[in-house]
Amino acid sequence: ITVRISDDALALACGANAVAAEFKRLGWQVQRVSSCGMHWLEPLVEIDGLGFGPVTPADVASIILHLREGRDPSAPDQRDEAHSMDPRLHGGDGIWGERIERHPFIAGQQRLTFARAGRTRPLNLEDYAATGGWAGLNRARAMSPADVIAEVLESGLRGRGGAGFPAGIKWRTVAEAAGERKYIVCNADEGDSGTFADRMLMEGDPFQLIEGMAIAAHAVGAGQGYIYVRSEYPHAIAKLNAAIALAEPHIAPFALEVRVGAGAYVCGEETSLLNSIEGKRGEVRAKPPLPALEGLFGRPTLVNNVLTLAAVPHILSEGGASLYAQLGHGRSRGTKPIQLAGNIRHGGIYETAFGITLHELINDIGGGTASGRPVKAVQVGGPLGAYIHTDQFHLPFDYEAYAANDALIGHGGVVVFDDSADMGALARFAFQFCAAESCGKCTPCRIGSTRGVELVDRIRAGGTRAADRVEGLPQMHNAAKTGRSREEALQLLEDLCDTMQHASLCALGGFTPYPVRSALKYWPEDFADGL
Ligand code: NAI
Ligand code: SF4
Repeated sequence: ITVRISDDALALACGANAVAAEFKRLGWQVQRVSSCGMHWLEPLVEIDGLGFGPVTPADVASIILHLREGRDPSAPDQRDEAHSMDPRLHGGDGIWGERIERHPFIAGQQRLTFARAGRTRPLNLEDYAATGGWAGLNRARAMSPADVIAEVLESGLRGRGGAGFPAGIKWRTVAEAAGERKYIVCNADEGDSGTFADRMLMEGDPFQLIEGMAIAAHAVGAGQGYIYVRSEYPHAIAKLNAAIALAEPHIAPFALEVRVGAGAYVCGEETSLLNSIEGKRGEVRAKPPLPALEGLFGRPTLVNNVLTLAAVPHILSEGGASLYAQLGHGRSRGTKPIQLAGNIRHGGIYETAFGITLHELINDIGGGTASGRPVKAVQVGGPLGAYIHTDQFHLPFDYEAYAANDALIGHGGVVVFDDSADMGALARFAFQFCAAESCGKCTPCRIGSTRGVELVDRIRAGGTRAADRVEGLPQMHNAAKTGRSREEALQLLEDLCDTMQHASLCALGGFTPYPVRSALKYWPEDFADGL
């Protein structure tokens, strides 16, 4: 019997190595697999399909006892001791000997990109091949590049980094661009708060990403690829480097290299990412020219997110009209790995077809808040995403439906806040974040973000600027003294948001108004005088 424990960074942070060591010490064979994505259960132990979690080294003996009991019902005398260690008795959220695939969190998903999650050893080529690995690449290489692109178009795959641009159109643009030398760049600079799907995929199933990149290289005519990973992901970097070395014979003549970022959020924006790979300062380039025509080192470059490229092997192995194209909602086809994070009871990766609602995701699947308090707001799409009120929990998870409601689904990060959240402070944080991460190239973002912090402060102080305020004087009197009203400051904030949204060069400045405006619209009381 083999004990399976994840070696994903989250499982490691929760103590998975100590649990694995304890099993080994007691003579059990341990296999380190990818994470199945039920984060609240880590370290999760799987034996013969049965799950135990969260587990500490002290629980290992009672797991063994539990399994022996199952095999030997004549040992009831040990049962009480075993059950006194049952994690379900300690908080009610653990699992103890249940079949993992029947757990509602897993059973309810439609996993295509994360089909191997929790099932395979990340760096084992046999596991990969035995679960359909390389089938997409083999089929693609037997087809013409144009036919491969036609299948990606037919599948309806859209950019999973956040913008949702049709992948097939981008591929076709690169394929048709003039130039002998072309590049594939995978954007793995997953900087959005509450997101971890790229990291899990790179750590748990790196060959799938490599295969997707090799298919893309064949389709657009590229010989070299780069995976640009944020430095905060050391485990992903190590796994990718090892996986690239192992996969070389499968992907040759396509060559791949990992490049490590240096911690700038803006390097997730494709043009500053390209600058960073070129060794330049991570500053945004004006578009046009599009990277598809003039990208890395001035050559036509396909820049796609990890999840976009990782979706490709499945699509190519089954054909464009595969299950992928049949799933989804409206123009949002296929599945989306949604990341449930923040103040949520059951956080983790939940891959499902587009169309699911926040009500289902947070109340039914996520089990509400971890604090047990009512949900107040949910930020979808990273730090630049809108705060969604519970009144909008019926919205289908779909690019167009969210855009129509001044929101974005972005990279699929869902961060939950309970009723103790101060939305005025969170709006202020959006400007503060933008000011800290701005590349400084354009004025609306570089200057506007700092003015935004000041304006939120002024609104919350009843209209006065800190410099004009007389300590000890009531807000009303302060406002009257300086002649500045709260309404005036609110109007200024509105104008500032307009300017940032429409005049910023990239999404960092351009999207900062989303969290600010949504917080102000749905929770005006959190911007009240005297806070
Ligand atoms: P965009 O809409 O400007 O472009 C999307 C992609 O389509 C780009 O690769 C662009 O080069 C390409 N494109 C546009 N028109 C094209 C054409 N005619 N032919 C070929 N290619 C074309 O969006 P952008 O600025 O690249 O991304 C913004 C998104 O990034 C936001 O929606 C946000 O959610 C997301 N984001 C994701 C983060 C993460 O951690 N994954 C972090 C920050 C933002
Ligand atoms: Fe740079 Fe901000 Fe302008 Fe983007 S919006 S180009 S991050 S200054």
